[in-house]
Parts: sequence; C-alpha cells; structure tokens
Amino acid sequence: MAKVVILSGAGVSAESGISTFRDSGGLWEEYDVSLICQADSLDKNEDLTLDFYDKRRAELEDKQPNYAHKLLSELKKKYPQDIAIITQNVDNLFEKSGLDSNTEVLHLHGFLTQVRCRNYSCAQTFEIGYQKIESFNEGLCPTCQSKLRPDIIFFGEAAPMYERLSQEFSDCEFFVVIGTSGAVIGVNAMAQFTPNSILNNLEPSESIEASLFNKVLYEKASEAIAEIVEDIETYLGE
Ligand code: APR
Ligand code: ZN
Repeated sequence: MAKVVILSGAGVSAESGISTFRDSGGLWEEYDVSLICQADSLDKNEDLTLDFYDKRRAELEDKQPNYAHKLLSELKKKYPQDIAIITQNVDNLFEKSGLDSNTEVLHLHGFLTQVRCRNYSCAQTFEIGYQKIESFNEGLCPTCQSKLRPDIIFFGEAAPMYERLSQEFSDCEFFVVIGTSGAVIGVNAMAQFTPNSILNNLEPSESIEASLFNKVLYEKASEAIAEIVEDIETYLGE
C-alpha cells in the first residue's frame, strides 16, 4: 500500500515517440482494435495479431525515456515505500529510466518485451527483448512446446494486476493521473475519495471528471512533471 499512487497511460510515453491509442493519429485509428486486441484475436486473426505486437516490440528498441519517466523514477527511488508507480503502458521506458519491472513499477496491461505460453497449465513468461515472437524458440514455449503469445492483456481477458492496483490504492492519500484518457481504468472514483489529487493530460477527456481533482494540468507530461513531483515531495515532507 502506498501513500502516493501515480497512474500513467500512453500519454506519459508520447513524447518518447510511442503512439497513444485514442488521440488523433493514435493506434486505434490506424488498427482495428477488435481484430488484434480482443480475447479471440489469436484464434481469429493470429498472424495479424502477432505481427501487430512484433512491430510495436521492434519499434521499442530505439525509444528512450523522457523527462517525465526520469523524474518519476527518481521519486520512486527516493521514497520506495510511499510511492507506487502504476502504468497501463506495456513499454519498457520506466525500466530504461532505472526502475525494476518486478518491484518498482506495476504494468497493469502486460509487458511488450515479454511473451507467455498459451498453455494455461504452464503459462510461463519469457523475456525476448525486441525480436519477433517467431524468432524466439520458433515461437514455442521452451518448457512445454506450446505456442507463445504476447504477454499483453487483451480486451475481454482477465487483468490479474488490477487486484494489485486496488491493494496499492487502499490507503492512498495522494492520487496522480498522468497521460490517460480514463477510457479503460475509471479514475473518477479514485480521485473522488482521495484527499489530494492531480490530473495531467493534454486536454479534457470525456471519461474523466476533472472537477474531482484538486489540480488539473493540461500540458505535456514533461512540462507538468516538475510541478507534480514538487507537490508530492511537499506532501511527503509534511
Ligand atoms: N503528456 C501528457 N498527456 C498526454 C500527452 C503528453 N505528451 N500526449 C497525450 N496525452 C494524453 C491524452 O490527452 C489522453 O488523455 O494521454 C491520454 C492518452 O489516452 P489513450 O490514448 O486512451 O491511452 P490510455 O489512456 O493509456 O489507454 C488506456 O486502453 O487500449 C487500451 O490497453 C490500452 O493501456 C491502454 C488503455
Ligand atoms: Zn509452456
């Protein structure tokens, strides 16, 4: 449980050159989400789905963390018990800025450089870096030889990490939202029941009631992050 929960979405990685989903020109404009990110996508459109994630994985290789990742990682290192860095993003930019993907940042929707065995009784995950899934052990699980899949949560699939989100949130006193439309994870209730809260997006989102937040910053994360970190440090220093 953390005093300060910082929930991020695609917007925190936008300035690193990684597409968001619902902004103009976003991924869900370019690709049909119902074909490649639904629970039945691997059964119905296996090649299209694997190709989509292979492309996004390969694109990740030259992407670098931005100032927002940097300041948030420093904040987590400074207050390891008081800060929870929770992201909907599947990129590894928090890791590239120095955070450990197992202990210091929580990925709610999976992790792009990992693959998972499709055999539920095995379900082992493997780190494959930026290569195509087919290039890793010919796309088969090294343990049980079943087919592998991206370790990404598709719409309609269980999201086991949401349990961790509610645990981290249980005694949250300061809630920060950075770069998410709130289309998937509802943030309004969390803001409503937290005494201190900051919303940072580029523009208002129909899924977020901005009036529930104590402070609203409609600007790039890299421009807002210093003020956000200063407010958090002031709060923790009290
Ligand atoms: N700085 C801050 N916020 C930004 C920036 C930026 N540079 N660029 C974009 N944003 C904001 C936009 O204003 C928008 O509110 O980031 C948000 C991006 O929203 P989405 O594209 O919907 O991304 P996200 O909220 O992360 O999507 C949630 O949906 O498709 C699923 O699993 C996928 O995790 C994803 C989830
Ligand atoms: Zn297996």
